[in-house]
Amino acid sequence: MSPNTTSPPSRYTITAALPYANGPIHIGHLAGVYIPADIYARYLRSCQQDILFVSGSDEHGVPITIRAQQEGITCQQVVDKYHQLNKQTLADIGISFDVFSRTSSPTHHETASAFFTTLHQQQCLTTKTTNQYYDESSQQFLADRYIYGTCPQCSYTDAYGDQCEKCGNTLSPEELIHPRSAISGKQPILKPTKHWFLALDKHEDWLKTWILDTHTDWKPHVYGQCKSWLEEGLCPRAITRDLQWGIPVPLAEAIGKVLYVWFDAPIGYISATKEWAHAHDRDWKPYWQDPNTQLVHFIGKDNIVFHCLIFPVMLHAHGDFILPKHVPANEFMNLEGKKISTSRNHAVWLPDYLKQLPDKQDVLRYVLCANAPENKDSDFTWQDFQAKNNNELVAILGNFVHRSLVLIHKYYEGKVPPCRHIDESDAIVIRYLQDTPQQVAQRIEAFKFKEGLQVWMDLARQGNKYLTETEPWHLIKTKPERVQTILHLATQIMAQLAILGEPFLPFTSHKLAAMLQLDTLLWGYATRKEMIPAGTVLQKPVILFQRIETDSLPITSS
Ligand code: MF3
Ligand code: ZN
Repeated sequence: MSPNTTSPPSRYTITAALPYANGPIHIGHLAGVYIPADIYARYLRSCQQDILFVSGSDEHGVPITIRAQQEGITCQQVVDKYHQLNKQTLADIGISFDVFSRTSSPTHHETASAFFTTLHQQQCLTTKTTNQYYDESSQQFLADRYIYGTCPQCSYTDAYGDQCEKCGNTLSPEELIHPRSAISGKQPILKPTKHWFLALDKHEDWLKTWILDTHTDWKPHVYGQCKSWLEEGLCPRAITRDLQWGIPVPLAEAIGKVLYVWFDAPIGYISATKEWAHAHDRDWKPYWQDPNTQLVHFIGKDNIVFHCLIFPVMLHAHGDFILPKHVPANEFMNLEGKKISTSRNHAVWLPDYLKQLPDKQDVLRYVLCANAPENKDSDFTWQDFQAKNNNELVAILGNFVHRSLVLIHKYYEGKVPPCRHIDESDAIVIRYLQDTPQQVAQRIEAFKFKEGLQVWMDLARQGNKYLTETEPWHLIKTKPERVQTILHLATQIMAQLAILGEPFLPFTSHKLAAMLQLDTLLWGYATRKEMIPAGTVLQKPVILFQRIETDSLPITSS
């Protein structure tokens, strides 16, 4: 499975969940989706695979209309603001998308519309008319979140049509006592409305075989969630809504209705691919239609049903599309022991982080990967952030690089010495250098990024231990030729750290590569015996990581 640099490249379409354009990115999004997706994409790029890494803003849905109303601006203004902000901050933290598009783009409107039309023509959709709340004064149907009323369970008077925030009870709007419209405050009436449904029930058989039999390799929590949905039995899902903001349903009888946001958003991956292809004079089709392409969706656990069941049904029913090969969903990351909450502002927002701790992108990337919620929920604390920075990045990695470069400059004017006679302690290091590229690769390919990062950091640990045990500063007087070998190998360790670290800590890798005059970070290069030839003149060390003192840490409100 390991990409082999001599065989033709494999093609990968890597998607990262489209963030909603109604708020900034926070560390939970990064740890769950964008950092792992970026590590995977950077690694495969470094193996010279044919990869396309796509994402974009998810710009439809009711929450965006609510935010627009609250702020007294239009929906388009809301999404313009957050699309720009999220695109910029994700780029600033080094997420290397090939394209970051948006679902309000014309290409996306056309693509999603045509997708619906195909499903409709192929009779994959059913319709049903039901009674829904309608606000007569504003002449519109009300989304569940637009209806307030008294909770039948706890009598809280401001419960939403889908949930009571007081007692946590899930509701449907008809259960509310004294329902009122959030738009006019008046009591809404029940009025019949027709909607289009995706007949998921008709797809149960192949879904069961495809997931339960052929995807036993998916993470246990992903597989488990799919299994329980499939065992409960699937029902038709409405894919249209009575709403003004969204992609109009392309049917004459559906005036005033739009596609449900969860129908159009995943199609956004395809639209983004088309835009990328158009801009680069390439064909989008192989990335979505060639059965040899591996489609991989990076998502959070709340997105599993959409990416493992509903979107695959859409792709299958439409025809001509491949299905995802992997859906390495993550669990959630908490903050200081509590669930991240955007409404209560209990979050570390990426724009704030980038402002308050400038030039520390890799510190955050390191801490979020080391604590990734890969198989269970995890916790981010500022204390742990500080400890990982000071005790690992500064004390292990930074220290090893600094010591090595200082010694090479002190004894050899910065010129990499040759490798002389090899003794037992050198042999251990050489074996480490031989093994590590494969060890890290295996972890990344298995979506075990946390472990991959540890194996990589162990190489720096090994380097430090090597210097501490061999003590070149003593040997320089008694056995100077030993020091040549030791610092030659220390240089090769630094080079390997730069290459293998690029998917995880790209900013650091590029700084390190510059100090080493290393002009390639291709993965295959890390398996060479001499990545940096003897005689290369290295640059003076620059500090890679600074200690972080407690008083410079941002305080998280709770
Ligand atoms: N906006 C959704 C969320 O943040 C994710 C959409 S993923 C897509 O939960 F597949 F629909 F694009
Ligand atoms: Zn209640």
